[in-house]
Amino acid sequence: MAFARLSTIVSIALVASQTANAALTKRVTCASGHVTANAACCALFPIVDQIQKDLFDGGECGEEAHSALRLVFHDAIGFSIYGGKGGGADGSILAFNETETAFHANGGIDDIVARQFPVFLETKLSAGDFVHLAGAIGTANCAGAPRLQFKFGRPPPKAAAPDLTIPEPTDSVTKILARFADAGFSPQEAVALLASHTIAAADEVDTTIPGTPFDSTVSTFDTQVFLEVLLKGNLFPGNGSQVGEVLSPLHGEMRLQSDFAISQDRRTACFWQQMINNQNFMMSQFKAAMAKLQVLGQRNLIDCSDVVPIPKPFTSAIKFPASFSKKDVQIACPQLAFPSLATVAGPAPTIPPVPGS
Ligand code: HEM
Repeated sequence: MAFARLSTIVSIALVASQTANAALTKRVTCASGHVTANAACCALFPIVDQIQKDLFDGGECGEEAHSALRLVFHDAIGFSIYGGKGGGADGSILAFNETETAFHANGGIDDIVARQFPVFLETKLSAGDFVHLAGAIGTANCAGAPRLQFKFGRPPPKAAAPDLTIPEPTDSVTKILARFADAGFSPQEAVALLASHTIAAADEVDTTIPGTPFDSTVSTFDTQVFLEVLLKGNLFPGNGSQVGEVLSPLHGEMRLQSDFAISQDRRTACFWQQMINNQNFMMSQFKAAMAKLQVLGQRNLIDCSDVVPIPKPFTSAIKFPASFSKKDVQIACPQLAFPSLATVAGPAPTIPPVPGS
């Protein structure tokens, strides 16, 4: 009797879970012919095309794509899991741009806000949906990136985020990790999010050299930045030492003080080192941490991730820049074996700036 009742309960549970799975996997074909998980996502396909055309030069991993990812972070991070800060991934950086672009940590953000704003108005998306869709698309334009999720349906933001929620390159590791923890991220997740600096350049740290990349492969979402931040530095790429910058190993390359400090700190060094030449691991860690960032403070969103373009893969092994080898690495996690990497042939390179910066 007891067994019969148990088996009835089990079969009811099975039917329920199969129905839920069927609902999850049910696909909708839009009038445009695109197939998606939810009819509400159909409206996004033409908007994705428009964003690619009007913002990203038809699908480039250039300056605007890089800045769109930075904007995702600067929009979302003004949030605390304990309350009392901003609305998170709500697009307030676009809607209340006069307030937020004035924050010190938002130096240079005015350019991408100005580029995105007219396109945002044309699409009629909420500011939050626009910022986070554009960030996912821009990232997808970079070979090697994971296909980020996109969740749809953010309401308009209510207010600007408060100042002093965005980490600065001059902050200590303790301060940076505390800010990430306040927003709900572990030290590992903070390092995972910093994979973004593989498609990053600085315009404002040294204004005499706009568009100075953080690694030698700024158009590829690879693990090169995790390697190059560890190389011994011996030069400043522009007008001497600037606030937030530390010695760089390569002409034309900028090293942020915060990236270097995080690469060396005992709380984060091993996770940093583990990323090197570990493309799939980096992609999955970055994607998971981004999935949290992209919906901070948001509820009841519809999963429209299948509108996000599929990035080209990056499958090569990364290499030391020409003339560098393991002897140049400032290893901060001696307990893990350092990966064995080849060196690019030729003389030490000078890294060119990102065009259009
Ligand atoms: C410790 C935390 C972080 C600090 C201190 C930091 C700092 C900076 C700084 C100073 C710049 C250069 C800005 C300029 O001079 O133009 C920059 C660029 C950038 N950051 Fe971060 N960042 C942090 C975390 C993140 C995160 C979590 C993301 C994304 C998830 C991100 C994405 C980017 C991108 C994509 C750029 C390049 C923008 C472009 O090339 O236009 N950063 N970051």
